[in-house]
Amino acid sequence: MEKSKIQISNFKSNPNVKNQNEQNYPPIELTELKNIDGKKIERIKTNIEEFDRVLGGGFVPGSLILLGGEPGIGKSTLALQLASIVPNTLYISGEESVEQIKLRAERLGTKSGTLKIGNATNVESIIATLSKNNSGPTRNLAIIDSIQTIFSDEVEGESGNINQVRACAVKLMEFAKTTGTTIVLVGQVTKDGNVAGPKTLEHLVDAVLYLEGDKFHLNRILRTAKNRFGSTDEVGVFSMEANGLREVKNPSEMFLANRGEAVPGTTVTCLIEGSRPILVEIQALITKTNFGYPQRRSYGFDLNRLQVLVGVLTKRAGLPLDTYDIFLNVVGGLEASEPAADLAVILALASALKNKTIPQNFVSFGEVGLGGEVRPVSQTEKRLNEIKKMGFEFAAIPFSKNTSKTAGLKIAPVKNVNELVEQILK
Ligand code: TYD
Ligand code: MG
Repeated sequence: MEKSKIQISNFKSNPNVKNQNEQNYPPIELTELKNIDGKKIERIKTNIEEFDRVLGGGFVPGSLILLGGEPGIGKSTLALQLASIVPNTLYISGEESVEQIKLRAERLGTKSGTLKIGNATNVESIIATLSKNNSGPTRNLAIIDSIQTIFSDEVEGESGNINQVRACAVKLMEFAKTTGTTIVLVGQVTKDGNVAGPKTLEHLVDAVLYLEGDKFHLNRILRTAKNRFGSTDEVGVFSMEANGLREVKNPSEMFLANRGEAVPGTTVTCLIEGSRPILVEIQALITKTNFGYPQRRSYGFDLNRLQVLVGVLTKRAGLPLDTYDIFLNVVGGLEASEPAADLAVILALASALKNKTIPQNFVSFGEVGLGGEVRPVSQTEKRLNEIKKMGFEFAAIPFSKNTSKTAGLKIAPVKNVNELVEQILK
């Protein structure tokens, strides 16, 4: 068979190409930045301060928000609380019957007269429902619980698969933007964080909020992973009570609430969560390894980081930990992921090993390097103020040229862990 020949024509620039293109795609109007009237975004406040702050001051009408979290963490609870506060809200559930929702609402003491609820899983019919119930100038809030349970007739596959989840979100986004309806999508996330769903929607939606915490503790933290209308720095702190999520105005108080007598191995540190300082207790338990390889377990603190700090203590402070089992716990289920927790972890370990208590009125924070040196961390002033406010008297902090002075607080600037361990646990 003869090979077909490729036609090569000389490419000459065609002056009509540009004009044709302009006809098909009219250029958009551009405005000079300086002439744009920066309207203040009006927001719908929920008056749950912890929630409004995380969103940047309340819901922005017409925005699509993803509320993610592990199963059982309290997403539906929070969603229903919001639904009962914001007037003209529709709560569409694909997970629970209206009777179940009613039961929960009763438990929450919901009073709202304007909240309407319904069951649906088909996104086209959800949108039709939202359209029909659009209350005009007083914009609606719609809650879809959850994005994994809804499907579009126009897309192949079962609800919950990536294509369905995306297609439904795109449709709801379009509806939100064109009608000014604020839509909250509830999304299930598993421990590894990567179910078809929330993660694949992050780029699409306007804001992503994650409700975190562990099921065995009451406290819940609401974080922003993305926010087109505000900062992603803020966190909201809640406590899961018998009648729903309650705002926690003073997180340190909550995390330190059950501190008992001074016990070797426990001490307090100050973390920054979002833009807020929070005091938490760190606990270490050290026991002689009786059999085989020493164990290390950590709750709320990175295990690799713990191994490194154990190495630092062994090598730099001469505390031989290699024949001991080590258990570390951040009290209250909080995740101490900030390096500022290092110093307190080191002290808790040393205190447990030496079986000596650390004074109850003492707090420490600082990053610890491999040489045992203590490095400065951010927002020292803010941490010190919180420490003072919570009634502590003495703080060990990283040495710096202009070490902070917070009135009413004794401050020990520390250069290396060795020196602090010796001083505190004489
Ligand atoms: P839920 O909101 O159903 O979680 P999600 O939607 O994230 O799966 O809440 C689950 C848990 O919260 C449930 O185990 C019971 C508990 N809970 C309370 O402690 N207090 C309450 O007022 C409510 C409604 C639930
Ligand atoms: Mg739920």
